[in-house]
Amino acid sequence: MNNRKPIIAGNWKMNKTIAEAVTLVRGIRAGVREIETVETVVCPPFVALPSVAEALSHGKVSVGAQNVFYEESGAYTGEIAASMLEGLVDYCIIGHSERRNIFGESDVWVNKKAKILLAHGITPILCVGESLEQNQAGETDSFVRGQVAAALVGLSAEQVAGLVIAYEPIWAIGTGLTATPAEANRTIGITIRGAIADLYGEATAQAVRIQYGGSAKPDNIADLMTQPDIDGALVGGASLKVDPFVAMVRKTAQVTP
Ligand code: PGA
Repeated sequence: MNNRKPIIAGNWKMNKTIAEAVTLVRGIRAGVREIETVETVVCPPFVALPSVAEALSHGKVSVGAQNVFYEESGAYTGEIAASMLEGLVDYCIIGHSERRNIFGESDVWVNKKAKILLAHGITPILCVGESLEQNQAGETDSFVRGQVAAALVGLSAEQVAGLVIAYEPIWAIGTGLTATPAEANRTIGITIRGAIADLYGEATAQAVRIQYGGSAKPDNIADLMTQPDIDGALVGGASLKVDPFVAMVRKTAQVTP
């Protein structure tokens, strides 16, 4: 038993128009209305954030962004600053493997993004995870530890305790392959909490909420959520429709005390 409230977050990626986004969040809001024990978050594309935030106002579903730039303002064509997200979102995903691999986001950038978000009162959802090759070569532990340590440089224990981390093995994202719940729990509990304990102490390691991500869906969420170190899920494909996403939140509420 711990004090970590489960958190199920939908990462919509580059999907949904503004109108589709509003329809989807209205359905999600209605579907999770009476759920108190699980935090539900939706992360739509930037342009839908104001409409989604409005549709969800005074409700229980939180809003997150999918990315941010690390400078306060300036000549950064196409980028979005944390000050623009402040007041609009509670969370922001950083370091997603798609951003690292397609857009060249480095560990240094991820660290800078964490810092600018925290300075603006937005909670980072920090993504880490190894590739298939690294997994097969037995490098998961050292690689993920390195990503965690690099992302946290210069953060206080208090800031780290308030983070959300998402462990997403890259080979499980969008592929239908999932890490077994025991495997995911091991990497989350031993590798990620272990890295945080080494840097900040056991109390901080036990406070931070750590999600699993990668083909999480209604069929496997209960098995994932009954693992002691898994505190939620970052959900891609299954977050794009009301029924599977609501089912995941409800199943999480059923299996967590
Ligand atoms: P998936 O994506 O659930 O579609 O595998 C998860 C993610 O990339 O966050």
